Amino acid sequence: MNASPTVVVIPGDGIGPEVIDAAVRVLREVLGGELELEERRAGYRLWKEKGVTIEEDTIEACREADAVLFGACTTPEDPEAESPIVRLRRELDLYANVRPARSWPAPRPVEAEFDLVIVRENTEGLYVGCECEVHDGVTLALRKISREGARRVAEVACDLAEERDGRVTIVHKANVLKLTCGTFKRAAIEAIEARGLEWDEEYVDAAAYRLVREPDRFDVLLTSNLFGDILSDLAAGLMGSLGLAPSANVGDEHALFEPVHGSAPDIAGKGIANPLAAILSAAMMLDWLGYEEEARAIERAVEATLRDGVRTPDLGGRASTEEVTEAVLSRLREG
Ligand code: NAI
Ligand code: MG
Repeated sequence: MNASPTVVVIPGDGIGPEVIDAAVRVLREVLGGELELEERRAGYRLWKEKGVTIEEDTIEACREADAVLFGACTTPEDPEAESPIVRLRRELDLYANVRPARSWPAPRPVEAEFDLVIVRENTEGLYVGCECEVHDGVTLALRKISREGARRVAEVACDLAEERDGRVTIVHKANVLKLTCGTFKRAAIEAIEARGLEWDEEYVDAAAYRLVREPDRFDVLLTSNLFGDILSDLAAGLMGSLGLAPSANVGDEHALFEPVHGSAPDIAGKGIANPLAAILSAAMMLDWLGYEEEARAIERAVEATLRDGVRTPDLGGRASTEEVTEAVLSRLREG
């Protein structure tokens, strides 16, 4: 990675700009001027102004940057309006969505201590959006699973399992979806065994049940697009809030980091959005750019902030976005 990486920052709509502002302040605190940040617009407001949710030169800028930091965009109801994040995932071929979940010192629905990561295939599955009406009142959606698609996302899960000295759990439903899930499962097993790593498997319904009861049993979960989308919100629930859930969208050439949550119009503008998911996404970005120490420092500051009870209302606290951000910044300064 070059000495001064370039990051395209897309705050988006709703609470997007509020939480991205917090993340950028944290990045500035740990790296000073070492990052070159280039802010770009995308989302609902751009759509209302210009009739597009993201501009071509923004996509080009993302392609040229070392990484992208994305807030959240409100999806316009107009069927012509494409979701900017879906477009970026496709354009940059960000085929793996990495969503870590761990037990932070905050109120949680289950007591167990856990530290897991969901690796979701990000470009295929049911989300290829290939739907049709067969005849009146009967509709179909196609689910694409390719051997190569499964293999390459499995490699990302293997990298994580290796780093964590852990095991990959393949989550599927091959007892019913024999062909598609069967392909996913076989390609994953082949990739994992070639790397000499341990694996096991779980049907997606059983995995949901077990995640709630024994989240500590899991390490790296590898799954297809829809299953991963649903299970990662479940995992966010286990952490106590979506406001704690960061993510990375990675491919061979590019990477984009974003909180799992959306633009949260219900709380936008109130100054109470939890900025930690965005701040932890920025930490994941630093990891990816090679600033591991700085990434760990941010995680420690987040942990200390939560432990000290500085929490936004989604975690049962009374602190504002600003107060939580300041708390993280001051703990970073204290080292
Ligand atoms: P959402 O994630 O925006 O909100 C779900 C619930 O969680 C709301 O009650 C919200 O207040 C709360 N919440 C989310 N993030 C929070 C935070 N940081 N702090 C405190 N509370 C938080 O999902 P929703 O309501 O389904 O979607 C709202 C809009 O966002 C929609 O237009 C949707 O299409 C879009 N969206 C965009 C995404 C993206 O750009 N990556 C991802 C998900 C949704
Ligand atoms: Mg989702």
